[in-house]
Amino acid sequence: MTILNLQIVYLRMISMNRIAIILFLLYVPAFVAFGQPPAQVTTVAPGVMKVASGRAERFSPYSFCSEKPVTAAMSRLPEGKLPFNINDIKITTSERGVLVEIPLDNREQLYGFGLQMGSFNQKGLRKKPIVNDNPSRDLGYSHAPMPFYVSNKGYGILVNTSHYTTFYCGTTAKNTGAVTRNNGRGGNSAEELYRNDGPASGYVAVDIPGVRGIEVYVFEGPELVHVLQRYNLFSGGGALPAMWGLGVKYRVKADFTQQQVGKMAAYFRANAMPCDVLGLEPKWQTAAYSCSYVWNEDFFPSHDKFIDTMRSKGFHINLWEHAFVNPRSPLYAPLKKKSGDYLVWNGLVPDFADSSARQLFAAYHKATFVSKGISGFKMDECDNSNLATGSATWSFPEHSRFPSGIDGEQMHQVFGVLYQKTVFQIYKALNTRTFLDVRASNAFASSYPASLYSDTYDHHEYIQMISNAGFSGLLWSPEVRESKSIADLMRRSQTAVLSAQTLYNSWYLQHPPWLQINIGKNNKNELMDNAKAVEADVRKLLDFRMSLVPYLYSAFAVYHTQGIPPFRALVVDYPDDEKIFNIDDEYMIGEGILAAPLTADSDARKVYLPAGNWYEFNTRKKYAGGREYIIKTGYTDLPVFIKEGTILPLAEPVQYIGPDTRFELTCYVYGDQAKPAYLFEDDGVTFAFEKGKYNNVILSYGNGKGAVTRKGNYAGERFRVKKWEVVR
Ligand code: GAL
Repeated sequence: MTILNLQIVYLRMISMNRIAIILFLLYVPAFVAFGQPPAQVTTVAPGVMKVASGRAERFSPYSFCSEKPVTAAMSRLPEGKLPFNINDIKITTSERGVLVEIPLDNREQLYGFGLQMGSFNQKGLRKKPIVNDNPSRDLGYSHAPMPFYVSNKGYGILVNTSHYTTFYCGTTAKNTGAVTRNNGRGGNSAEELYRNDGPASGYVAVDIPGVRGIEVYVFEGPELVHVLQRYNLFSGGGALPAMWGLGVKYRVKADFTQQQVGKMAAYFRANAMPCDVLGLEPKWQTAAYSCSYVWNEDFFPSHDKFIDTMRSKGFHINLWEHAFVNPRSPLYAPLKKKSGDYLVWNGLVPDFADSSARQLFAAYHKATFVSKGISGFKMDECDNSNLATGSATWSFPEHSRFPSGIDGEQMHQVFGVLYQKTVFQIYKALNTRTFLDVRASNAFASSYPASLYSDTYDHHEYIQMISNAGFSGLLWSPEVRESKSIADLMRRSQTAVLSAQTLYNSWYLQHPPWLQINIGKNNKNELMDNAKAVEADVRKLLDFRMSLVPYLYSAFAVYHTQGIPPFRALVVDYPDDEKIFNIDDEYMIGEGILAAPLTADSDARKVYLPAGNWYEFNTRKKYAGGREYIIKTGYTDLPVFIKEGTILPLAEPVQYIGPDTRFELTCYVYGDQAKPAYLFEDDGVTFAFEKGKYNNVILSYGNGKGAVTRKGNYAGERFRVKKWEVVR
């Protein structure tokens, strides 16, 4: 493109008022001198810089973030230092779009790009973080793709675009004219011949076709954990779900009637299986693909009373839906002109980029469901149909147009975030907390209390996604459905218990999977001979989950106020330990628990313990860190290790978390020099904590005695310490 052409483009871009012309005249000489629009570097929050060049994208991920950065907490972080000069981030605009190049040292490790599946350390990979319902191995396609990566050298790069983008993470070699020695590598297989074995280094190249400029957000450390903190705090702080959201969620079969759901609820209580949330699947509404958002009265003849009865028994009701609006829906007429020009399952695609469309959708949901006691939604199908196969065509095309001006490609990338924003605002306005399910997300969504899930079902990948989610301000539910074996059910249950949300998704199962793991037999009411024994084993795991709630809830409070992810890969806490760089199947929960889940493949696994001493939770055996062990874990044990110096408060398990639930705690003190532990205490269901109505409960241990100190403005008492126990 010639300079003249570019000038014409830029002239079109700016409105013809005088200020714009003056700015433009100032801008042209720089452009002529360097051949590129000059990049502007501004500090937008403590330790967050924006490098901008050319025309900013109108529908970028950040343009939809209405949360304010939590600057006070950000400024309390230690000062960051980039391992390169920020001016070395190179932005080049051409007819194709924008190319961003970010320096990369060959010793550093890269992570992130959202909820990646099938890859962990991203260095040396080519990634296209594109939203998709069928995450394809390590291509970058994901339920929650993000143009955001972080480095163990203590910085993060977020390319603020909702266009399909490719990141080459140190994989490209430029033709610079320099002669390099050809090592004449041979090989016998195509794989050997084609391998790109130059060390990943130089720079990360980001190819963003179709844009006329870009904003790059740079998050400083100094350490990796601070980068994540800054990112989450910049997005408004991490999500703090309703306390009951940390209990157990069970989704019933899609065609269950009100009576069947009631029976299932009774089963849970009669058999002392903990459960806080019952999720209804498609058939609760008169039309589901697309959605009517109208109760199916044949199945739920007295739905409002049903919600109340369930609430009185301690169950929250969550409704499945998606955002494609059926012609029979009361939302159809109001949204008709505020929707895209293509249909999905014959339903409208609301223009969620337009706040008035979001408002209509929210107002209807508020009046029809939330004000009647519905505690949350499962926001399904907001990712695109499988891009890796030509036959998957259910979603709207990339060339869709929406009245706001956003196109189908951009809409796909941000649809899940905008859907979360729409629904979360209802709850926020009503001063009621929730915990949502969602199948798509993107950048700057850390503050939304929504957990991702998937129709995929590889257990290894599910474990890996717990670690990956933590790099990007996301929460992930490794849900349990059917199982291949009892071992598979138990191992999956252990993982579910050690994740952000414990979810059993029985949308196609008549009975809970612990009564029959096999789909066919389950639906023929043929329960396993040992169903009761398996149920008892699963109960032990669910009880552990309930015991962990006070600790977990407090880890979420830290996520909210300080931005530290409650679930995170080991490299976040130990960024310099190279033995950890590629460990994707172990992760930290809060400050003191290391989880190392097993799959059905084996009853023992390799566990690497980082520096320091650790205690195996089940056996109380002490292990020296900095090395690997083979650890055997039974089905009803928990594959976790506790860091020396931790005070771990575990509660007497409860069946569900009600407004008045008080947790009776035993505090386990690991080692001789325990650090104080903090519990976050509030009503658990409103946003009153934002106005200071919470307590910090400080648990400390010294001279053979435990002490509890309460500080804050919350009048209630959720936690009572019954016992202290020292583990040495
Ligand atoms: C899928 C979803 C499942 C289930 C199903 C119901 O898209 O991932 O969990 O809800 O829809 O039709």
